[in-house]
Amino acid sequence: MGFIGSNFIRYAMRTRPAWTIVNLDKLTYAGNPANLADLQSGDGGGRYRFVLGDIQDVALVTHILDDGIDVVVNFAAESHVDRSILDSTPFLQTNVLGTQALLDASRGRPLGRFVQVSTDEVYGPAPAGVDFAEEAPLRPTSPYAASKAAADLLCLSSHKTYGTPVVIGRSTNNYGPYQYPEKFIPLVITQALENESIPIYGDGRQIRDWLYVEDHCEVVCRLVEAGQPGEIYNIAAGTGVPNYDVADQILKLVGRPVSLLRFVTDRPAHDRRYALDDAKIRATMGHSPAWTLEMGLEATVRWYVDHPQWWRPIKSGEFRGFYETWYSRQ
Ligand code: TYD
Repeated sequence: MGFIGSNFIRYAMRTRPAWTIVNLDKLTYAGNPANLADLQSGDGGGRYRFVLGDIQDVALVTHILDDGIDVVVNFAAESHVDRSILDSTPFLQTNVLGTQALLDASRGRPLGRFVQVSTDEVYGPAPAGVDFAEEAPLRPTSPYAASKAAADLLCLSSHKTYGTPVVIGRSTNNYGPYQYPEKFIPLVITQALENESIPIYGDGRQIRDWLYVEDHCEVVCRLVEAGQPGEIYNIAAGTGVPNYDVADQILKLVGRPVSLLRFVTDRPAHDRRYALDDAKIRATMGHSPAWTLEMGLEATVRWYVDHPQWWRPIKSGEFRGFYETWYSRQ
């Protein structure tokens, strides 16, 4: 019940009425049951079921798959780059060993597809003017990105070796409702709402291509329905903007001054720019994003303004220890 997975379940329940979904989740720090509080096991006429557990538990995954599952979508991941710099262990466990365990449990089954949710970070930084296509070399620069690249390679080898119908989607940075406030956009919004300073790494000119989470969810649905096994699909928004400008737009929406922005020590090995060439998904799936950055930021800000009961306990709880450790380092 992380950020993208919980949005996906809500979106698929709404737009794919023929689907039945089993949600296997370990509920780690960022996997908050409140992310799907509006959806209970048995909802949607029995179309949704929650199972508490770890994707590394092959026996449990096998048991679930035996229940007539025909598609696996792997959203399970430790995803915060800064945390991976502090401690890579959970990243290797969930992202690498967890993916392999899912692949092992899926081996030899008549699955329709195994969709692996990946990231543009596996390619490493894109030089100015270059948008990486799916064939670009993998040059991850953080433990998080390296663990996701490893997972992609394990998926592809499982396709080659065992014929597992693996489909990989590599998306750019997501944002939207229910994103844990350690990530840049919800961090900026919630710090601004609390009139607290907003940490900007380095010069703030790093570029990310912000994809509204619902656009990503629609693509994952299409990959479930029509992704070609063995193929990789880049998923982009086409909204490459420097971090400083994103923060500035959010401050305007929240009605707070730019003086809240505070330049802090840069993240080690901070990738300067991410940019993907998404011609393949546009051509094969007929997909192009529906949300502009302006629309998405407005909707996201509104959601955080309307849901302080969701993010306030997180910020005063688990998040505080991480924030103090990470942002006080030099
Ligand atoms: P983040 O949301 O961590 O995603 P990623 O590093 O996976 O792209 O960060 C997005 C961008 O915002 C990235 O360039 C780092 C930057 N950033 C800050 O400037 N300050 C912060 O406090 C955080 C968390 C991120």
